[in-house]
Amino acid sequence: MSYPFQIRSLDEYRSVYEQSIKEPKTFWASVAAHFLWRKKWDKVLEWNFKQPDIQWFVNGKLNITENCIDRHLKDKGDQPAIIWEPNNPDEEKRVLTYNDLYFHVNRFANVLRNNGVKKGDRVCIYMGMVPELAIAILACARIGAIHSVIFGGFSAHSITDRLQDAKVEFVITCDGAYRGNKDIPLKNIIDDSLELCPFVKRVIVLERTRTPVSMIKGRDVWWADEIEKAEQNGNPELPAEEMDAGDTLFILYTSGSTGKPKGVVHTCAGYMVYTTYSFVNVFQYQPGDVFFCTADIGWITGHSYIVYGPLCAGATSLMFEGIPTWPDAGRFWDIIDKHKVNVFYTAPTAIRSLMAQGLPPLAGKDLSSLKVLGTVGEPINEEAWHWYDEHIGKKKCPIVDTWWQTETGGIMISNLAGITPAKAGYATLPLPGIQAMLVDEKGNEIHGNDVSGNLCIRFPWPSIIRTTYGDHERCRINYFATYPDLYFTGDGCLRDADGNYRITGRVDDVLNVSGHRIGTAEVENAINMHTGVIESAVVGYPHDLKGQGIYAYVIFDNTLHNHDLTRKDIAATVSRIIGPIAKPDKIQFVNGLPKTRSGKIMRRILRKIAEGETNNLGDTTTLLDPAVVIEIKEGKIN
Ligand code: WTA
Repeated sequence: MSYPFQIRSLDEYRSVYEQSIKEPKTFWASVAAHFLWRKKWDKVLEWNFKQPDIQWFVNGKLNITENCIDRHLKDKGDQPAIIWEPNNPDEEKRVLTYNDLYFHVNRFANVLRNNGVKKGDRVCIYMGMVPELAIAILACARIGAIHSVIFGGFSAHSITDRLQDAKVEFVITCDGAYRGNKDIPLKNIIDDSLELCPFVKRVIVLERTRTPVSMIKGRDVWWADEIEKAEQNGNPELPAEEMDAGDTLFILYTSGSTGKPKGVVHTCAGYMVYTTYSFVNVFQYQPGDVFFCTADIGWITGHSYIVYGPLCAGATSLMFEGIPTWPDAGRFWDIIDKHKVNVFYTAPTAIRSLMAQGLPPLAGKDLSSLKVLGTVGEPINEEAWHWYDEHIGKKKCPIVDTWWQTETGGIMISNLAGITPAKAGYATLPLPGIQAMLVDEKGNEIHGNDVSGNLCIRFPWPSIIRTTYGDHERCRINYFATYPDLYFTGDGCLRDADGNYRITGRVDDVLNVSGHRIGTAEVENAINMHTGVIESAVVGYPHDLKGQGIYAYVIFDNTLHNHDLTRKDIAATVSRIIGPIAKPDKIQFVNGLPKTRSGKIMRRILRKIAEGETNNLGDTTTLLDPAVVIEIKEGKIN
């Protein structure tokens, strides 16, 4: 047995699950005992969901990077920790062993210290998928700085919101990032955002694409120059900062149903224990396996299952800079072949778009190293599941369908590869320690099987969200107030006759576009910023590749001359305000929106129309002006 807490049979899963529910504290203490602590905890857990106030491993002291790196040096120093595959297949791959990672993280931690970064400071990281991104993250964690990684696809405006919200003084970025045949000018984008963020004192810029950038005197410095300075200073090995179990490890912004994105806060110890535990069990990782998660580190999946979970487990994590369709749609399969990948973890949207290319991109690719496949981010349709099973896994690789959220930190409901049964379209069973339940609208528990409801969790797990940065009340209202004493996920769910869970999608106003979370209110706010727009309403509709597409109903002032051009202008506005991922797929100009007498937009009706439903729109009698519905139906964009 490779990991002491790795579950190896269905019976063992059942007994471990039962124990974890009956005696959660004993259970998590036994898992946590396998990590490196500076000082052991006094109490395993103190909690209430009312405030909420949740503390795991109270008074425990540690540094997560000693768990990710230092403790592997003795036995695994020469083992690859990170294998990096560049965007351009002709460029050399890079391999960082655990020894290398130790060296680089220490050196960059020195750079951060030299630039004035202290424990508790927030550091924004806006970079492409290069190894230095992982190094920057770990260097922050090493000195106790709080990282806030922003996905490279977000616009300057979105960055500004995030920098202001977390009062960030330090930024780490790249001149540019390669994605397929594009070169994204990251430094230029962040420069636009910095115009509105005079409180940012220092910007460290890594050279990657060597696009021309402006380097502002006194604020901007080159990564390589700072490394050189650190070396001239003797580049001392830094003792990792001693962190309290409950200290913040990072902030990651995510969309909710209202207003601006919120900064989800994760803490050092609980996050470490749970990401590692779930990584080892869900994927049934074995020492030496090459693990390839295709997510971007700008999202939670990359944080938990490219960086922290795999590295804490002493795994080899493959990081890919590019996109699945460049130079051609066989790129993932090339990488699997080239690096002999054993575990492959991707999103249903990627599977669907590669499936659409047919089998030619698979020709000649040796995928025989694969042992386990995984999906995350959205419900996977059965067709895509079977294609993945047949053509990628050759029916030999269990597929884990992993349900979780930015707020949960790690995988919550999933089969364990080859250990608990898979079922197409189902995330199946909760992991040990996860007390999932379904409730009706009023919050009453729905017992028994073959039922559906809203998915809640009734007991804390170690990597549960602790707060939303700078606004604890928002955290309470969003997750802990809908149903008293429960964590509410915002997802609808059904439980089949055997107790397997199937996530059916969000029940709030959050869209899931290509596995990316986008709030309808955010998109509406962006559309409304376009001149001439009077009001808008955004809903999701089923989209073959993206899972959900964005459908916008827009009331424009009377001087609308060219519909097509205005649609493009509105899309450009959304792209500028949020980022290209939030661009509406369809924009319909309307004269009015269906509203109740109290002025509330009836989204249910708009959603049905966008989904192509024309007859059964439900009760429209409470509408202020039922005639607008007829007009909207007639003008539907196909
Ligand atoms: C959805 C991503 C069905 C769900 C890790 C959740 C899924 C939201 C699955 C979180 C899955 C994630 N099956 N739906 N396996 N995984 N979701 O925060 O609606 O980006 O609430 O975290 O994605 O998205 P987030």
